[in-house]
Amino acid sequence: MRVLGIESSCDETGAAIVTGDGNVQADVVHSQLPVHARYGGVVPELASRAHVLSIVPVIREAMARAGTTFADLDGIAVTAGPGLVGSLLVGIQTAKAIAWSTGLPLVGVNHLEGHVLAAFLRQGGSTRPRFPFVALLASGGHTSLVRVDAPGSMRTIGETRDDAAGEAFDKVAKLLGLGYPGGPLVEASAREGSPKAIRFPRALREADNLEFSFSGVKTAVALELRRAREQGRAISVHDVCASFQASVVETLATKLVRAARIEGVGDVVLCGGVAANGALRSRAGELAAEAGLSLHVPPISSCTDNAAMIAYAGALRLAAGERSRLDLNASPGMRLPS
Ligand code: KG4
Ligand code: ZN
Repeated sequence: MRVLGIESSCDETGAAIVTGDGNVQADVVHSQLPVHARYGGVVPELASRAHVLSIVPVIREAMARAGTTFADLDGIAVTAGPGLVGSLLVGIQTAKAIAWSTGLPLVGVNHLEGHVLAAFLRQGGSTRPRFPFVALLASGGHTSLVRVDAPGSMRTIGETRDDAAGEAFDKVAKLLGLGYPGGPLVEASAREGSPKAIRFPRALREADNLEFSFSGVKTAVALELRRAREQGRAISVHDVCASFQASVVETLATKLVRAARIEGVGDVVLCGGVAANGALRSRAGELAAEAGLSLHVPPISSCTDNAAMIAYAGALRLAAGERSRLDLNASPGMRLPS
């Protein structure tokens, strides 16, 4: 089984060729960062237009790198949702056109399922989790804990009540004037600061709580900056970043380990763009080791948006006989079952 995966849910145009056992033969991502950077966030209309321009070259590049033609493929997987509707439609229409003209089977994939299954891609020497496991899926649009019993069988056991973790990183970066996307910029600045300089709140700390809330910590950062301005006090951007990051990382890592205990599983996974964060990776590693859990973290390129995870999730669904029809539509609000 060899599948072409297409991803266009947000601001990355991706195409990848992946086999049914998770070998990544090509994984091409074209980032739209320069298009959106000056607006401090993704502009949906510009995103759709940029996808239209890059989708065919990105697919061609993936096919060339894998040394494959359509005749060597067994199917096409495309992100059906969640995401920006105009962006999703570019990938979906392209996938449908290829499926129609080649006769290859098509399957629409849930982007969130793709993020979770990225832990099974064979690259970078990362270890694969054993079922059942709990995944922390933390990205720009979502933050949830997912119990995974089998590749196609996963449910949300806790999620954020307000902002996603990545969104909080992006908003704090904006408040500090660091730029977009905020995650990597806040992380880099935090390296020079003290995580103990400012005590930012950690929400929903009750013993068995598996929900998240990040709007409070974001507001606390805004208040701290305003107070410092009003008092004519200089603030250290590095300290603000380090202290904010410590609050978010502690909450995420603690709840991942807590969820594993409640669910009685031995394996835990980090996925989604925020899983690229080094402080989160190391804190989750420490807490998992203390709890006797085995932590699995995909390489950074498989944590942020990519098409390899979509191709792999699609390959499993195609192998199970699942097919989407040519009237497949975008599902901007798609979720995982709860
Ligand atoms: O999964 P992803 O690439 O796209 C979505 O599906 O949302 O996640 C993007 C999010 C952004 O909010 C970005 O700021 C965050 O992941 N992110 C990070 C880091 N790298 C990306 N957050 C914290 N630390 C990072 N190193
Ligand atoms: Zn994503």
